[in-house]
Amino acid sequence: AGGPPSMAGGPGRCLGLAWQGTGRLPPPPAPSLCPAASSRSSCLCSCPCSCPSTSSTAWPSAAPGSKRLPQAIIVGVKKGGTRALLEFLRVHPDVRAAGAEPHFFDRGYERGFGWYRELMPRTLDGQITMEKTPSYFVTKEAPARISAMSKGTKLIVVVRDPVTRAISDYTQTLSKKPDIPTFESLTFKNRTTGLIDTSWSAIQIGIYAKHLENWLLYFPIGQILFVSGERLISDPAGELGRVQDFLGLKRIITDKHFYFNKTKGFPCLKKAEGSSKPHCLGKTKGRTHPNIDREVVQRLREFYRPFNMKFYQMTGHDFGWD
Ligand code: A3P
Repeated sequence: AGGPPSMAGGPGRCLGLAWQGTGRLPPPPAPSLCPAASSRSSCLCSCPCSCPSTSSTAWPSAAPGSKRLPQAIIVGVKKGGTRALLEFLRVHPDVRAAGAEPHFFDRGYERGFGWYRELMPRTLDGQITMEKTPSYFVTKEAPARISAMSKGTKLIVVVRDPVTRAISDYTQTLSKKPDIPTFESLTFKNRTTGLIDTSWSAIQIGIYAKHLENWLLYFPIGQILFVSGERLISDPAGELGRVQDFLGLKRIITDKHFYFNKTKGFPCLKKAEGSSKPHCLGKTKGRTHPNIDREVVQRLREFYRPFNMKFYQMTGHDFGWD
């Protein structure tokens, strides 16, 4: 059962993967067809244990709904604002999302789709299953692998000014390893000539046009939504409106859901998912960045400009970084 599960929306062969290694369920009796799936295009994988519990052959389960492979994934970018977007989207009653980053298409692919599906929350018919793993955007194999799961997967990329993104990335590393060299010294291969070290991941990730080319080999541009990380902060409801439209969801998340928390310096939710209390993201989101030498910032702006222009051209959207 090494290949991807049937995703065609019709009955598919049971791959017998969902129970493996979980220690919770015995193996299903025998490979079987997902029953009468024509009315349930979301019956993705056809093991009895993963079919909707209304199904006649459903494996017994106390919880309602079933685990499905994601129909939409936030694939990037690291430090773009991916956690904020997912937390905001979860407020929607028709969105259910895995909490932690699964890292399936970059680090866990050998574990198989059954393992991946087990990480997903249960959903009812009509609800969308989502996950976010920002490193997918820069993983060479990810587009082909996601396309092999389903060509119809909707992809979301939160992008942010690549210079600020690089500094944010560095700030995160610095918080874990205070002894690393300065941002300025890591930026250059040769500071005298101004040669940028593009092999440093903090720099590399921000060359969005280059990474996007890889995705366009497998997905049409219309299947990828680009969310502005800057607008997600200045106008979260506006960006969430675009995301809900893209996902085919009713516009339920509006400006009524947000307030600006002055202490945090960011928009927060008036009520978090499943709670009546206000909720801001944690301390690791919205860190204070160190001051970076202005000339170095300037040199980085020059470096990214042509890649940004290409990216604006490819996406048909000027993100206003230049
Ligand atoms: P900084 O910590 O550098 O400010 P990710 O979740 O992809 O790691 O992105 C983290 C970034 O999300 C933060 O980077 C912050 O700028 C941004 N962000 C966007 N909306 C936010 C919000 N409402 N609360 C906190 N951070 C938010």
